[in-house]
Amino acid sequence: MTDFNGKIALVTGTSGIGLASAIRLAAGGAKVLACGNDPTANALLDRISKERGLEMSARLVDVSREAEVQDAVGDVVGRNGGIDILVNAAAVHPFGTVLDTSFETWNRCLTVNVGSIYLTGRFAIPELIKRGGGSIVNISSVQGYACQENVAAYVASKGAIHALTRAMALDHAAAGVRVNSISPGSVRTPLLSLAARTYGGDGVSEKDAFARFGAAHPIGRIGEPEEVAELVAYLSSDRGAFITGSDFRIDGGLTAGIGVK
Ligand SMILES: NC(=O)c1ccc[n+]([C@@H]2O[C@H](COP(=O)([O-])OP(=O)(O)OC[C@H]3O[C@@H](n4cnc5c(N)ncnc54)[C@H](O)[C@@H]3O)[C@@H](O)[C@H]2O)c1
Repeated sequence: MTDFNGKIALVTGTSGIGLASAIRLAAGGAKVLACGNDPTANALLDRISKERGLEMSARLVDVSREAEVQDAVGDVVGRNGGIDILVNAAAVHPFGTVLDTSFETWNRCLTVNVGSIYLTGRFAIPELIKRGGGSIVNISSVQGYACQENVAAYVASKGAIHALTRAMALDHAAAGVRVNSISPGSVRTPLLSLAARTYGGDGVSEKDAFARFGAAHPIGRIGEPEEVAELVAYLSSDRGAFITGSDFRIDGGLTAGIGVK
């Protein structure tokens, strides 16, 4: 649990998997800045930090905007002297085929989900290198491998994260920067609540929709954000020192089968 003493972490996303990752890293001793576009996150992270004695704060950042990401990285470095760990968990999840996804929605999805990884990397990687190396974990999705209908922009972004992860890993391995991605199946977060409202069906409760999503996973349930955060912590720690350029599925067996019984 104390893998991160003296480490500085930047996390994008202030709810769901981003929040759980921030808490897990902070519980391991890291100082964490979580960046997101939810103005209520600061109060939430303050409360959790006080309750649990963690060094965690939030900053309002639109991760698709170059200047805001640059400022956030500058802020962390200015206050703490550097960055060791970067976790990219911010994302949007539009629904639609290419026929009913506007170009604006397409561009927004690709810019938030993939562009933010380029931007945080561009500004943070030099800082990781100055500290002798570090770890980047990008949250992708099983939908980067195989997908539902009606998620064209989202799956394009998730496949791109797999490819970008490999490129960043190769480019910066010699400088000690490890870059990996995680591909979750269904995980209990606000984003899955959105999927439940979209796919759940009329009058179906979130609980019943989550149970149906869970039943599609061989393990028989959806995942919890803390389970993904544990994998983030492993990859971000020295325990993962020989791992780079890889993607890790955490999906209750969802993509192990072909869905035919
Ligand atoms: N929950 C799942 O079932 C599931 C499955 C596979 C992959 N994922 C991935 O996990 C990651 C985390 O998602 P989550 O499930 O925790 O959902 P979430 O909605 O809780 O988290 C997404 C976060 O991104 C932030 N965000 C969105 N647009 C932003 C912007 N422009 N600037 C700054 N922040 C912005 C939101 O405020 C939110 O905190 C995402 O990459 C998502 O695609 C989730």
